[in-house]
Amino acid sequence: MNVSEALATRKSIRAFKPDPVPMETVLRILERAARAPSGGNLQPWKVYVVAGGARDELVKRVAEARHKHPMGEPPEYLIYPTDLTEPYRTRRFRVGEQMYALLGIPREEKLTRAKSFARNWEFFGAPVGMIFTVDRQMQQGQWADVGMFLQSIMLLAREEGLHTCPQEAWAVWHRVLREYLNLPENEMVFCGMALGHADDSAAVNALHSERAPLDEFVVVQPNNLPPR
Ligand SMILES: Cc1cc2nc3c(=O)[nH]c(=O)nc-3n(C[C@H](O)[C@H](O)[C@H](O)COP(=O)(O)O)c2cc1C
Repeated sequence: MNVSEALATRKSIRAFKPDPVPMETVLRILERAARAPSGGNLQPWKVYVVAGGARDELVKRVAEARHKHPMGEPPEYLIYPTDLTEPYRTRRFRVGEQMYALLGIPREEKLTRAKSFARNWEFFGAPVGMIFTVDRQMQQGQWADVGMFLQSIMLLAREEGLHTCPQEAWAVWHRVLREYLNLPENEMVFCGMALGHADDSAAVNALHSERAPLDEFVVVQPNNLPPR
């Protein structure tokens, strides 16, 4: 598999088969992903891996916490801007609608949509879950570095025949995660990630998210301007 194939076949998977992934595979992916670049080589990422009983216990703790906070608590950082402007607002809306259409859940069925969203907190059935934290002193540049680490993991997973779903949804369980994973105070929960084998029979996995055409996000400076 080359890089283009890994990129083209990576997509967010929201239904996994329970088939386990050997821990040595997970660690191989993480070791290789740590070749991701980072400003000043800070490598400002940290990842907590849960599998087997440890994964099940985390899922159970969140299910219990939901009795008090059905959709979690305010995260420690703003996941999206409060008043998202265009074209971002429509992009977000469209992918959501496309996903719920595949799941067959109309807009009015808010409770069913919430239930479906809550599958995030079961890692969508994946056997391996990862929680990513960032040291609180880090700034925008370092958060971007963590993003490169995440993408590297997702591409390497493809090379292993595995799939992923990055999950900001875990940020609302920072308290539960802090206690369960024994997270130091200086670490902030950024997101989670599900890792495992895609369930190809699940309708939701047929989602192929759209992308804006090149001319919406690329600006090539003309090189034939007259001299000033
Ligand atoms: C940092 C990050 C966090 C995300 N959090 C979630 C999440 O909590 N739940 C979810 O279902 N998808 C989540 N996604 C997946 C995005 O919705 C998805 O990447 C986007 O719609 C494009 O689709 P694709 O990944 O299939 O190409 C997240 C993606 C990123 C990069």
